[in-house]
Amino acid sequence: MSKPTFYITTPIYYPSSKLHIGHSYCSVAADSMARFKKQTGYDVYFLTGTDEHGQKIETNAAKAGKSPQAFVDDIVAGIKLLWKQMDVDYDDFLRTTEDRHQKVVQKIFKQFYDQGDIYKSEYEGLYCTPCESFWTPSQLKDGCCPDCGRPVEAAKEESYFFRMSKYQDWLIDYIETHPNFIQPPSRANEMLQNFLRPGLQDLCVSRTSFKWGVPVDFDPKHVVYVWIDALSNYITALGYGTDHDELFRKYWPADIQLVGKEIVRFHTIYWPIMLHALGLPLPKQVFGHGWLVGVDGDKMSKSKGNVVDPAILCDRYSSDAIRYFLMREMPFGSDGRFSTETMLTRINSDLANDLGNLVSRTVAMIEKYYGGQVPEIGRTTELEQSLKLRFEQLPALVEKFMNELQFSLALSEIWKLVGDCNRYIDLTQPWILGKEGGDKDYLGTVLYYLAECVRAVAVAVAPTMPRTPERIFAQLGLNDPSLQTWESIQSFGGLKPGTQVEKGAALFPRIDIPKEMEALSQLGDEPAASTPEPTKEAPQSPEYIGIEDFAKVKLIAARVIACERVEGSDKLLKETLDIGNGQTKTVLSGIAQQYSPEQMVGKNVVLVNNLAPRKMRGTLSEGMLLCAENPDGSLRLLTTDGDVAPGSEIS
Ligand code: MSP
Repeated sequence: MSKPTFYITTPIYYPSSKLHIGHSYCSVAADSMARFKKQTGYDVYFLTGTDEHGQKIETNAAKAGKSPQAFVDDIVAGIKLLWKQMDVDYDDFLRTTEDRHQKVVQKIFKQFYDQGDIYKSEYEGLYCTPCESFWTPSQLKDGCCPDCGRPVEAAKEESYFFRMSKYQDWLIDYIETHPNFIQPPSRANEMLQNFLRPGLQDLCVSRTSFKWGVPVDFDPKHVVYVWIDALSNYITALGYGTDHDELFRKYWPADIQLVGKEIVRFHTIYWPIMLHALGLPLPKQVFGHGWLVGVDGDKMSKSKGNVVDPAILCDRYSSDAIRYFLMREMPFGSDGRFSTETMLTRINSDLANDLGNLVSRTVAMIEKYYGGQVPEIGRTTELEQSLKLRFEQLPALVEKFMNELQFSLALSEIWKLVGDCNRYIDLTQPWILGKEGGDKDYLGTVLYYLAECVRAVAVAVAPTMPRTPERIFAQLGLNDPSLQTWESIQSFGGLKPGTQVEKGAALFPRIDIPKEMEALSQLGDEPAASTPEPTKEAPQSPEYIGIEDFAKVKLIAARVIACERVEGSDKLLKETLDIGNGQTKTVLSGIAQQYSPEQMVGKNVVLVNNLAPRKMRGTLSEGMLLCAENPDGSLRLLTTDGDVAPGSEIS
């Protein structure tokens, strides 16, 4: 029987001079998912690539004194090297400057024109070159690009336009009837409320003011708008529109398209409309993940000086450790702060201590008490029953969370088994069982159980940490590939007694954090430390907090742009908040008895912006609105005195 197929994509990256750790987040997630699907029996295709056209590249190449092609060639080579270093094992890497892509983009554009989806007119408006996005004056935020906050330029030129409005009602209906299409659901609401329901405008889809793009073949002074060019990559890479479209027929529609939250709009509005106009099915799911932000909550960017080079981190701490941290630290849909110090602390605790020690202690004790041969199981107790239960529950839980792209929860399940094993060692005290006159029969049980659980952990971490399993298998003496599969950990007891183990080097050597922080700062790669320096005037009384404690709470002004009651709750309202820079957040608040949704819309409120997101009634609440509570328990919202731009800091 042929395997089920699974097609997963990342966005194609702009060849900017260096990708930072934030960029690698999406690729590592896609790679982990691709590996997991392969492990669980799917025929997987994983696509990534680079988005190489546009005015920005043309300008940057000119600044660097290179032709645009030479400029992107150099950078793309670096990106491919980084993916190799991070074990991002794609099946295809599409570059939008490749012929195989450009020819099909021209064909697609022509088809849109021939069927009347595209018409020629004149564009007069505003353009954000860094984002390659057009805006109308009313969409600007404080006169700047609502996505990146940078200035926009006036642009006037003959252009082709795509009749987006024609497809608006169809798309609204599609999103409403396919709740899995846009994930997490808050992003679907955002698209419906902010873009689709207010009405789509026709999109300018060609430019004449620069040359670095796919030429419109029937009107060569035009080049195709970069987003039309870029989005097409997901099908051109599969040979769509050519005589060799076997991959397309096999893998389309994509199962999961991973994108960062700021480009959800392109992937859930323009992209579906393009596909529908071509008569093609839509991807089964577009997942908008959050950003890795700097310690101050800022987006990572070169200009903010908070970029971290993933190549340096992988060199120093191993790509498996970095991949583990990226996937473990934050829920996939939400933003997470990146600090090197937090990362090193987690590597030490989860990898060096919890996992590394478990493996080395298990192997060392088998060597010490059994001459290196995995013992037979002897007498068992309730402890083994519960450890075995944890083992047996693991695969289904990991599978569930991975399929929901909850990488962090999947890893946390694996680490529950690691934690249980370490506690099992503390409780059973094998070093006492192994003493003269100790309980050798039970010692055999303990060491077998530990070794078998270590085997399961090695199998389960493989998608996220592809290099670690073979190092664990080598120590466990496990050469038999059939004991390294997902299948093989569905039931306890695969490991054969008598297997010869062999102690190896520590899996993750302990990191001296202060020393490393110092070394990284010498390399100029360490953004501000996350832990503030202790102040000279320490709080005098437990009733006081220092200013550094207060500074941990990030308060911002936000504006309620939509609000509704939460089904099944008489207390909760769900607000969509404008938090500046074109971004929105969803927050649930227990104020439905004081405020109606209509009263809420338009209010300027105070948001705790860095509160850990929490799921309530199936919705992720991404912060908290501040309220004052009267003695009778009634609540009044804190608002600002007069209009304040959403996103303004409150301190
Ligand atoms: N070229 C477009 C995508 C076109 S897809 C048809 C683009 N490129 S990008 O290089 O700017 O970004 C690529 C991806 O990296 C995006 O999904 C973006 O969200 C992600 N990230 C960039 N910085 C990030 C973080 N700091 N954190 C997480 N992801 C981030 O957009």
